[in-house]
This record gives sequence, structure tokens and C-alpha cells, in this order.
Amino acid sequence: MKISVCGKGGSGKSALVTLLAKQAQDRNITALVVDSDESNSGLFRMLGFEQPPVPLMELIGGKGKLKEKMSQANIFAESQIFVEDIPSQYMQRKDGLVLVGIGKILQALEGCACPMGVLNREFLKKLRLTENEIALIDMEAGVEHFGRGIDEGIDNVLLAVEPSFESISVAERIKSLAAGMDKHVWAVLNKIDSQDIVMKLTDELKTKGIEVVGVVPHDPLVFDACLRGQALGKGKAFRAAGKVLDFLWAKH
Ligand SMILES: Nc1ncnc2c1ncn2[C@@H]1O[C@H](COP(=O)(O)OP(=O)(O)OP(=O)(O)O)[C@@H](O)[C@H]1O
Ligand SMILES: [Mg+2]
Repeated sequence: MKISVCGKGGSGKSALVTLLAKQAQDRNITALVVDSDESNSGLFRMLGFEQPPVPLMELIGGKGKLKEKMSQANIFAESQIFVEDIPSQYMQRKDGLVLVGIGKILQALEGCACPMGVLNREFLKKLRLTENEIALIDMEAGVEHFGRGIDEGIDNVLLAVEPSFESISVAERIKSLAAGMDKHVWAVLNKIDSQDIVMKLTDELKTKGIEVVGVVPHDPLVFDACLRGQALGKGKAFRAAGKVLDFLWAKH
């Protein structure tokens, strides 16, 4: 099952990916986390790795002449890519948790990020998972990735929705774009501190045809770890993510 975690900037996509991956790890499910965010670089820290993986962009030798390089002898020339096919130097791996990254925009004036979008799309399309694997894709904020076709290869979209009007608006737009691509869309409410907010958000999302399948509380452990650039702790947000993972895994 390939799940892209999407939503407004700052709504908690990376936190949710991390908590779900850690829950998968605790259940002996192999979680492949795909860092598809071209701007933010801290996901590896949230997951508890010391270093980011070498980006897959490097595997094909950088952004220039992408088409030519993708047909050369590397995993991208194959029609299917299994987790075990990915060369170990391009991943971080620990106890059933695997992190790969597409690439980051590092320099000013280095050109547009389109080659990374192409690589990302091809990787997700060709990615094949075995019975005991789940792929969690930490998407860039907003909706542009739909325009770039990055979501073509994924099965389901999980929306991270925080209590704000803007977050709901982005969720609505993603729902309509994803529905046009025949993807399942579910929402997880994040940074929640009252049952009243849960009811308001759930009702509002329902009017837009979006089903809420989980509620992750505002958790000082998550906030603090994000502030310090540390691995997310296993507190109440982690426990709530466990229920979301159970829901998703039951669907696969
Ligand atoms: N459940 C939570 N409890 C407390 N704070 C949270 C929670 N989830 C996220 N945060 C806070 O929100 C911030 C943004 O979270 P996160 O980086 O996961 O969002 P994002 O959607 O990945 O952002 P971006 O769009 O920049 O990639 C974190 O730095 C943290 O302070
Ligand atoms: Mg993020």
C-alpha cells in the first residue's frame, strides 16, 4: 500500500508520516518512507536517523539529461523497483524503517524542480511493495504535486488537517484533484486539543465529502522534538497514530 500524506504547509504531514512509520515498525511492518519534499530537510531527524539518505537524484547523476540517465543501467531503467533493489547507499535503514529521499533544492538559481518531480513520479509508479511493506510518502505542501502527476503511482491519499480554514480549503482542493485520479482520500485531524474542534472539523470535512479516520492530539512531545530537531517521542500523538495505521493496514 502506497499512501501519500498531503495537506497545507505546516499541517503536520512530516509528523504524521513519522508517527505512522514508527507504529508500523512496532508491528514488524516494513515502512518505506519517501521524502518527496524538495524544500524541508528535517524528516530524517524526526525519524531518528543521524543523517539524511543520499538522494535518489544522485543515483542518476543529478538533474541534467534526466531522460537519458533514467534509461541507463540503474534501478530506474527497470519496470519495477522493489525496496530491496534500492542500493543501500541511497537509503537510511534501521529495524524495518527505511528512508529514501528524492532530492532537495540546495542552491539559488539552480533551475526548476521539474526533474525531481519526474524522478519522484517514476519512482512511485515503479515502486512495488511486498505483503508486509507499506510506503508512506511525505509530500510537499499544497497541491502542485497533483499537477506534476507525482500522485499517479500511489493508492491512497491521507490528508493532514489542522484546525484552520486554510487547511480545510487545501484539503477540499486535494480531495477534488485526487478523486479525479481515482484515489481514496481520508483525513486525519492533527494538533487537536478539544472534542468540540473534532466535531466542527469532522462536520465541515463531511460536507466536502472527506471522511475523518483519525484524530491526533496536540502533543508537547511532538512540538518539543520539532523545535529541537530531534526524533519524535512516543506520547499521545504516537498512540493516536497507531489507530490510523490499523485503519490503513486493514484496507491493504
Ligand atoms: N500533533 C502535534 N502536536 C504538536 N505539535 C505538532 C503536531 N504536529 C505538528 N506539530 C507542529 O507543527 C509543526 C509542523 O509540523 P510538520 O513539520 O510535521 O508539518 P508539515 O505539514 O510537514 O510542514 P511542511 O509543509 O513545512 O512540510 C511542527 O514543527 C510542530 O511544531
Ligand atoms: Mg513536512
